[in-house]
Amino acid sequence: MSKKIKIGIIGGSGLDNPDILKNSKIKTAPQTPFGKPSDDLTVGEIEGIECVLLARHGRKHNVMPGNVNYRANIWTLKEEGCTHIVAATATGSLQEHIKPGDVVILDNFIDRTQGRKQTFYDGEAKHPQGICHLPMEPAFHEKTRQMIIQTAQQLNIAVHKTGTVVTIEGPRFSSKAESNMFRQWGGHVINMTSVPEVVLAKEAGICYAAIALATDYDCWKENKEEHVTVADVLATFKKNCTKVTALITAVVPKIAKENWDQSCKELQQPFMTANVLERS
Ligand code: ADE
Repeated sequence: MSKKIKIGIIGGSGLDNPDILKNSKIKTAPQTPFGKPSDDLTVGEIEGIECVLLARHGRKHNVMPGNVNYRANIWTLKEEGCTHIVAATATGSLQEHIKPGDVVILDNFIDRTQGRKQTFYDGEAKHPQGICHLPMEPAFHEKTRQMIIQTAQQLNIAVHKTGTVVTIEGPRFSSKAESNMFRQWGGHVINMTSVPEVVLAKEAGICYAAIALATDYDCWKENKEEHVTVADVLATFKKNCTKVTALITAVVPKIAKENWDQSCKELQQPFMTANVLERS
């Protein structure tokens, strides 16, 4: 029998509407070896498929990007039995052709965070033991990404099929010089949260994909009118977040119809390596 599918949904700023789940109830945020997740969980169903919704910044949006307990968030979703995570994230655009309001299905990242805990294997007592050197290609789960892209095509939602996200530490936005440097490095969009979320999900053996909504042009453009402000970010995703929720709602039952045994097996590899290294 194939593995039971359960989908974790991590909602970003304004992209964490609990109404997308049917028969939902609140489950108190559990204690994990890494502390508590950002908030209580909303557990429920989309077309009969079990889902767990977690608001990355808390339901009251009171957890700053650098203070999110990414390890507790991913650990909690793993403990809940999630085989997949579909994450939503608001991003600035670093490229002219990615316009505010556009959706990007991320496929790579550049890490500009500082000092965030990026592994469960930190050598502390009561944490997973061993040494884990996690391969980061592919960073995002390819089969899950492709399912989101296919779903978007069926729904007639235009998406950019690939995109490299630069994740900065924040909470400040980038300087213009930084923004231009990230453009030269090949970044397509910029946010403050994809790292270490994607890294930890992979370490936990969860199929992780992220739907990025471009909300602004950061600050690399000459035209000051187009430089990012919090008000722009909020207004743009309020206008466009229905696209993201429609996409999540439609992809969940499609994911559940597939057999993911091979994917889940492949993603177990880091655990195996950690244990082998520990013994040798
Ligand atoms: N989130 C939304 N827009 C952003 C930007 N320009 N920089 C970093 N994070 C963002």
